[in-house]
Amino acid sequence: MPVSIFGCNSSEDAGAELKALGARRVLIVTDENLRQLGVLAKIESSLKENNLDFEVYDKLPTEPTVDFVVEGTRVFKESGCDMILAVGGGTPIDTAKAISVMATNKSSIERYAGANKIENPGIPVVAIPTTAGTGSEVTIFTIISDTRTDVKMLIASPYLMPRLAIVDPMLTIAMPKGITAAVGLDALTHAIEAYVSRKAQPMTDILALSAIRLLARNLPQAWADGNDIEARDNTMLASYQAGLAFGNSSVALVHGMSRPIGAYFHVAHGLSNATLLGQVMRFSLAGNPKRYAEIAAAMGEDVTGLTDMEAARTGADAVERIINQLEIPKLRDLGVDRKRFEEVMSQMIEAAIASGSPDNNPRVATKEEIAKIYNQAY
Ligand SMILES: [Fe+2]
Repeated sequence: MPVSIFGCNSSEDAGAELKALGARRVLIVTDENLRQLGVLAKIESSLKENNLDFEVYDKLPTEPTVDFVVEGTRVFKESGCDMILAVGGGTPIDTAKAISVMATNKSSIERYAGANKIENPGIPVVAIPTTAGTGSEVTIFTIISDTRTDVKMLIASPYLMPRLAIVDPMLTIAMPKGITAAVGLDALTHAIEAYVSRKAQPMTDILALSAIRLLARNLPQAWADGNDIEARDNTMLASYQAGLAFGNSSVALVHGMSRPIGAYFHVAHGLSNATLLGQVMRFSLAGNPKRYAEIAAAMGEDVTGLTDMEAARTGADAVERIINQLEIPKLRDLGVDRKRFEEVMSQMIEAAIASGSPDNNPRVATKEEIAKIYNQAY
């Protein structure tokens, strides 16, 4: 398990933790909106209290891209920093992880797409998530978009695991409703896919089921009342557990199909997952009814006397209820153009299959079945 600290206000110890890891000068990779929301203030003062110098790189787009990794790597090298502190959602954390290895490896980032291609360990990264969803703070993955080719590169390497994750639920209080919904459903997708994945393991099962249980009971409340600290705390814990789970058991069909939507139409990752999750679940139930029945029970559905398949369906219904409750639109309402969607459909299907994630699904989909699910999500 990666080294991590979980707890309300734990981010106020960031300075002491960085110092204990040997940092002298830190590059903070973050999102400029977080400063306006006041999220950075306490973290920066904890660095000052520990006499740590720091520089801030906060000019990031809404998704991690090759250009910003290149620019961030240049900033890192010129800054004289010896450690990276990533503060934010998936974009700052994934960008920081990529900068960390680009600072110590010679090739361009495109050469490292895929698994285990990075040659040298990176600069140590301490990750502080401010959204409850991506789990990137505890995974060996980073996803970087190449805007020239419309490809979302999945890069996997043990060198991408942050040295330390500091998971502080208090930082998510500032999250607006739309982001709470999108990232929360990303976390639910991680947990469900980790549990039904063909690579699921006993330890990831425990984490995934716990995350499903927590999200079913707390995500709608965290969304309805962002100031409910107990709901925020439980949602953040679930996101973190789901990250640990899928980091070891992989994701499946939803994520495989979701990345091309993000690459071609720049729909936020959590949202594109959420548009697919219900349909993919219904499609997949037959591949492993028992596991989906267990998901239904974990969500609090009464499955007494039901067959596995009947119970599995109640779980899919419960997931769809949460998706509707959190007001997730269809792809057509997210600015995805119908004509372009049809034009790139075959490329999206190829990219989904090539990612390898759909092979982990309990029921492996044909190209025609993937096309049908894309159309249903539209
Ligand atoms: Fe995800």
